[in-house]
Amino acid sequence: MNETFFIEAENLTKHFGEVRAVDGVSIRVKPGEIYGLVGSDGAGKTTTMRLIVGALKADSGECSVCGYDVKKHIEDARSQLGYLSQRFSLYEDLTVLENIRFFAEVRGLKPDEWLPRSLEILDFVGLANFKDRRAGQLSGGMKQKLGLASALVTRPRVLLLDEPTTGVDPVTRQDFWQLLIRLVSTPLHLPPNSENLGGVSRRDEGGVAVLISTPYMDEASRCNRIGFMKSGRIIAEGTPWQLRDRLTGRVLELRGSPLNVLRRAAHSDPDVEDVQAFGDRLHIRVREKKADDVLSRLKSRIRSAGGTIEDLRVTSPGLEDVFIALSEASNE
Ligand SMILES: Nc1ncnc2c1ncn2[C@@H]1O[C@H](COP(=O)(O)OP(=O)(O)OP(=O)(O)O)[C@@H](O)[C@H]1O
Ligand SMILES: [Mg+2]
Repeated sequence: MNETFFIEAENLTKHFGEVRAVDGVSIRVKPGEIYGLVGSDGAGKTTTMRLIVGALKADSGECSVCGYDVKKHIEDARSQLGYLSQRFSLYEDLTVLENIRFFAEVRGLKPDEWLPRSLEILDFVGLANFKDRRAGQLSGGMKQKLGLASALVTRPRVLLLDEPTTGVDPVTRQDFWQLLIRLVSTPLHLPPNSENLGGVSRRDEGGVAVLISTPYMDEASRCNRIGFMKSGRIIAEGTPWQLRDRLTGRVLELRGSPLNVLRRAAHSDPDVEDVQAFGDRLHIRVREKKADDVLSRLKSRIRSAGGTIEDLRVTSPGLEDVFIALSEASNE
C-alpha cells in the first residue's frame, strides 16, 4: 500500500549568493508524525521551512503539501498549512482573542467561523482564561502558545514550527509538547466536502503532520523521526532510537574527581575520540570495539595520576553524543 505523506520535499536547494543555505534536502512527513529538524545555528532549518511554506522559492527541487505542489498550487498548499515562524510577532496592544481574530481574518475565515474556532483553540492551548489579556502582558511561554493557537486557527493538516520553545522555561516546554502530542494523535475531522483533497483520501487520515525545529535534545528525542542538519544538508535521519544505536557500546560514562585529571587521562588514550562533560560526569566516546580496552587502561591511568573513580562504565548513548559524533564526522 502506498504511504501518504502530508509533506513531501525532494532535493530542495536554495542559495543566497555564495551560501548554500539548503543543499539537496529531502523530507517526508506522514499524518500523525512529528519530524524534528535538529542542527546548529545557520544549518538551514529556517530556510528549509520557508521553502516548504512557499515563503521562498527553491532554486531546484520539488515540494508538495497534502498533495499540492508548492510551486504550482501555492494557495491550495497554504490552505493546509499552519506556520509558526522563528521570529513571529504578535500585536502587543491587542488582546489574545483579537490577535487570533487578526490571523483568522487574514486567512479568510468568516466571522461566524473564527470565533467558535478561536475559543476552541484557546481552550486547547490552555489560554481560555486569558482571552481578554493584552498580548504584551503575557509571559514568554504564553506568547508561544498564542503563536501556536494562531497557527492552528485554520485547522491545518500540516504544522511547521520553527524553534517554538527556544527561551521558554522547562515546565512550559513540557506543556507545549503535550499539546503537540495531542494534536498529532487526534484524528482529523475534516468537512464532508474534503473527500480526496489534494489526492489525500479521508481513509488515510491520521492526525496533523508536524515539522518542528529545535535546539533541545530532550525535545528531539520526543520526535518520531529526526533529521540532523548541517551546512544545508540532512546528514543523518532516523528515529531517536536508530540514531542512538549508531553509538551503542562506544560511550563510557565516568564519575570521579578531580575532573581535570579524569579529563586528561581520557584525552591521552589513543582510542578515545571525544570527551564531553555532562554536569558532574564525563561522556567518553571510544573507537569501535575498544570500550573494554579503554576502560581498563583508564582505571590504571587515573589511579596513577592520583584521581578517584566513583563510577566508570559503558553507558547508553544520548542524542547529544550522536550529534557531536555526526558533526565531527561530517567535518572530516
Ligand atoms: N535571507 C537571507 N539572505 C542571505 N543569507 C541567508 C538568508 N537567510 C538565511 N541565510 C543564510 O543561510 C544559512 C542558513 O540559515 P537558516 O536561517 O536557514 O539557518 P537555521 O538552521 O535556521 O539557523 P538558526 O538555528 O540560527 O535559526 C545561514 O548561513 C544564513 O546566514
Ligand atoms: Mg532558524
